[in-house]
Parts: sequence; C-alpha cells; structure tokens
Amino acid sequence: MLAGFRSRPMSTSLLHLGVNVDHVATLRQARYSPHPYAFNAEPSLEAAARVCEEAGARSITVHLRADRRHLQDADLPRLRAGLKTKLNLELGNTPEIVAIALREHPEDVCLVPEHRREVTTEGGLDVVAHRDTLAPTIQAFAKGQIRVSLFIDPDAPQIETAAALGAPVVELHTGAYANSGNEGDRRRELERLRAAAALAFARGLVVNAGHGLNYANLPAFLAAVPHLHELNIGHSIVSRAVFTGLAAAVREMLGLMSGYSL
Ligand code: PXP
Repeated sequence: MLAGFRSRPMSTSLLHLGVNVDHVATLRQARYSPHPYAFNAEPSLEAAARVCEEAGARSITVHLRADRRHLQDADLPRLRAGLKTKLNLELGNTPEIVAIALREHPEDVCLVPEHRREVTTEGGLDVVAHRDTLAPTIQAFAKGQIRVSLFIDPDAPQIETAAALGAPVVELHTGAYANSGNEGDRRRELERLRAAAALAFARGLVVNAGHGLNYANLPAFLAAVPHLHELNIGHSIVSRAVFTGLAAAVREMLGLMSGYSL
C-alpha cells in the first residue's frame, strides 16, 4: 500500500491524477514576478491547488526550476500548508534544488532532466548515463523518507537501471506518444509504453506517467498501457480551465480516467 496521503482519499478512481499547477504560477509571474505574494497578486497557487483537490486530484505537482521561471521557493511551504493530499515536487538533480527538496519535505519528488533553454521538460532523465550522480540523491531522499520517482523514457535499459538504483517509482515520459503525428507512430509509441509499464511493474516499480497527455490522447493511452498508478497532467487541464474553469477541467479529466483498471 502506498503511503503519503494526509487525509482520506478524495476520489474512488484506482488511477490517481496529479495536477501540475506550474502554469498557474506562470500566469502569476507574468504580471507579479517582482511581488508574487502582494495583496493583489493573482492567480493564487494555493487556491488553484485547493480547487484541484476538491475536484478529485490526488496530488499537486510543481517543478522548482533552477531559473525559477514559474514556481518560487516560498511557494513550497505555502502550498504544503494548505494541501489535503500530497505534494509532488519535480526537480533537476542539482545540489541547490535537492537541498531545498530535502528541507521542504514534499511527500514525493520526481527527478527530471532540466535544460535552461527548454520550454518544458523535453525528454526523460537518462538514468543509465547519470547513474553515478543519481545514486546519492536517491539515497538521500530515501533516508529523508521522501518517495523518489525517476522521469524516464519508456525504454528497458532506463527501467532496469531505475530498479537497480532502488527508486520505488518511475514516471514514464509520454511526450513521444503525445507528439506522434500519424497512426503508425502513435501505435509504435503506445506499444513502447505498454512494454515499459509491464517491465517496470515486473521489477516491482510503481508506474506513473505524464507529459503531453490531454483529453484527446488519453483514452487510447489508457486502453493500451497497464499497471498505471498516477498520471501527472498540467498543460491540457490548465488550458481547458481557461474555458470551463479549473474544477470542471479536472473533473472532466478524471471522468476519462474513471474506467481504468490495472
Ligand atoms: N510529468 C513531468 C515529470 C513533467 O515534467 C511534466 C511537465 O512539467 C508533466 C508531467 C506534465 O506535463 P504536461 O504539462 O504536458 O501535462
């Protein structure tokens, strides 16, 4: 059984939704970056997280980037203070950000690759290439009782290495599937994700997934890929929220997830 919830589960769905609210912080920073907590600064990240939770999200995901382009350091304790579910902090494996994560102590962390000039996380973390630098970080989080996930491409060597490193969770990068422009590529990427989920599950890893998932591509993904525990979705939910409101956007995504069985 997975630990980490601070209160009762808020949805009956087997498959959990973590909502990435970085874009809410992006909007706030666009206007209020000099004073993100001024009395008139909006939108409120804490209020957005509360709406997502009340609509059924099981965790709130944020990414503290080295350049602080959306989330600010002070958002972490402010968010944590109000959350009823759990905080999932995405981070690059740098001493500065790892130290912040250990201090702020979110329930979950997800190690991601980070490049300064990318618009968003572009690929999975190459855990095979970075095995030696990842090992002490994974150990430090384990010692701090923070559950570590590795955001990886859905390939066997990445999964085998994640398991060998002792990470309890992997998040499979779904970007290549989401960006597939034709049916052949889509089918190939779905098969790649299916095989990766099966292997990760066989190795005893909790299997999460995310990146580029949206209301259109989610049904085929869920029909093809077994063993999923949690999806982390941000851009499409916040984009839909512009038209429908955040609660309706979260509920609609959960509706698509509700029939999923392992
Ligand atoms: N999971 C991880 C590890 C990510 O880096 C991101 C993007 O920040 C997401 C999920 C959410 O991706 P999207 O915003 O495309 O839904």
